[in-house]
Amino acid sequence: MTNSVKHGIDLLQDPILNKSTAFTETEKQELGLVGLVPDVTETEDLQLQRVLLQLAQKNTDLDRYIYLVNLLDHNETLFYRTVMSDPARFLPIVYDPTIGEACLKFGHIYRHPRGMYLSITRRGKVKEVLRNWPQKDVRFICVTDGGRILGLGDLGANGMGIPIGKLQLYTACAGVPPQYLLPMYLDAGTNNEQYLHDPLYLGMRKPRPSTDELYSFVDEFVEAVQDVFPKCCIHFEDWTGTDAVHLLQRHRDNYCVYNDDVQGTAGIVLAGMINATKIKGTKLSDEKYLFLGAGSAGIGLADLICSAMVQEGLTPKQAQSHVYMFDINGLLEDTRTDLFDFQKPYAHQNPPTRDFVAAIESIKPTTIIGVSTVGGTFNQKVIESMSRINDRPVILALSNPTEHAECTAEQAYTWSNGKAIYAAGVQFPPVHLNGQTFLPGQANNFYVFPAIGMAVFATQAARVTDELFIEGARAVADQVPSELLKQGLLFPLQSNILETEIQTAARIATLVFDSGLARVDRPADMVTFIRRHLYKPEYASEAVSTSKAA
Ligand code: NAI
Repeated sequence: MTNSVKHGIDLLQDPILNKSTAFTETEKQELGLVGLVPDVTETEDLQLQRVLLQLAQKNTDLDRYIYLVNLLDHNETLFYRTVMSDPARFLPIVYDPTIGEACLKFGHIYRHPRGMYLSITRRGKVKEVLRNWPQKDVRFICVTDGGRILGLGDLGANGMGIPIGKLQLYTACAGVPPQYLLPMYLDAGTNNEQYLHDPLYLGMRKPRPSTDELYSFVDEFVEAVQDVFPKCCIHFEDWTGTDAVHLLQRHRDNYCVYNDDVQGTAGIVLAGMINATKIKGTKLSDEKYLFLGAGSAGIGLADLICSAMVQEGLTPKQAQSHVYMFDINGLLEDTRTDLFDFQKPYAHQNPPTRDFVAAIESIKPTTIIGVSTVGGTFNQKVIESMSRINDRPVILALSNPTEHAECTAEQAYTWSNGKAIYAAGVQFPPVHLNGQTFLPGQANNFYVFPAIGMAVFATQAARVTDELFIEGARAVADQVPSELLKQGLLFPLQSNILETEIQTAARIATLVFDSGLARVDRPADMVTFIRRHLYKPEYASEAVSTSKAA
């Protein structure tokens, strides 16, 4: 990240250059480190052993999260070596579900600045602020206004934990080099009364502005990014549902932007649906979908499933007729006057109802998808009704964190008597029922957005289209071995995530080239091309000569 010559204590305090106990004797001599570090020279693996030992002594995942954040502040290589050594174990600590708790307490556990905080009071000066960032070639900004953090609502500045964690997954899951990644919080205030009165809250103590004011601030931000970081893709994350959809619509045709809640969620759930249809021996266009929740995740998914059904041969209207939605005010139907434009395609001629079970009984969906943010809403009656109507009901309970899941894996399998094809937004343990073991999958966006990130990074794609997410979904789905599919697992195993993402990124990158969106030359072999761009959590062996030459 920096080319300046660093010696002695300055070098040890630089998390990107610091090797801690791994500096060689020559490096110690030449870089003024003699006496400043112990007289050993350890390998990365030995350092990792120490980290694992210390992590094992922590009592909670939040303590482990704080420890790992601290490690990142001191030694970036060792942090990524740790997380990438066992993704299935560490991703739930650096990201969901621990990140939810970390965000709730963000102002209290804060230790060190990371990323950028851009307040609406800086309007007119956004470019100047962006130029304060030390890295000049930024390729991804993950940006939130804290409006709807996970299923936890408006967390304002406490939401900064999300862009930080999300970008760590670009690196940990798909090997995007961390120096190109910038987490960003756009501070437009918060309506969270608790934080407004918390002396340790780190954001602006003002209620949120009007939508027009917010969008004009975002417009300035998006345009400023083009100027300051011309190769940058903007990843919107955890805005409220309507802002997420509107801001994506506003910018997607003109700039390289995407919204992970809208498109990434849709991509991974589509992957799960593709595999559910493989288990059932059907096609996406044979299914009828009923959503609980019609916000950013629901609409993004409905739109993407429809695009995938159009690829199977339906017209857009026919595809929309397979999708029904139910929100806080009941079933979306054509007499409702409170719907946004983007919800109207899914409001059909149905009798109004506020009873979800009644909606199931009259629509007879094959699949229900929970994106409501409300835990327990797929109750026993819901699952039993789905199981009466279907031989293999598909139950996707995607809201998170864990206590917000519409139903647990155990509930889905038990109440359906083992008939359900189930996945959740969080990881539930295997369920043993009637002598069978069921493997509930986690519809986690981290199978898709890091691969999108790697593909966009490697190809320098000019736009991020829905087709890229559909291709990503198909690539993820294709990587679940058939013996695991038989146990109901809809997504690949997390332990092999880097390899899964490389293959997924290669398929997405191929489509980037085929669509004419790439801004680099087409390589002969796409997987090799992706591997060439991978970050590896290893210390630079030439630290002395690099440092001297710089
Ligand atoms: P949102 O706030 O935009 O939308 C929530 C929707 O649920 C709204 O349509 C609202 O009317 C509806 N709703 C609220 N209470 C309800 C109730 N009692 N009954 C019926 N509908 C109700 O939120 P967004 O962005 O759509 O996210 C929804 C959930 O999906 C969140 O919990 C989020 O954590 C989860 N999610 C899961 C992902 C994954 O598993 N891969 C990725 C992104 C989001």
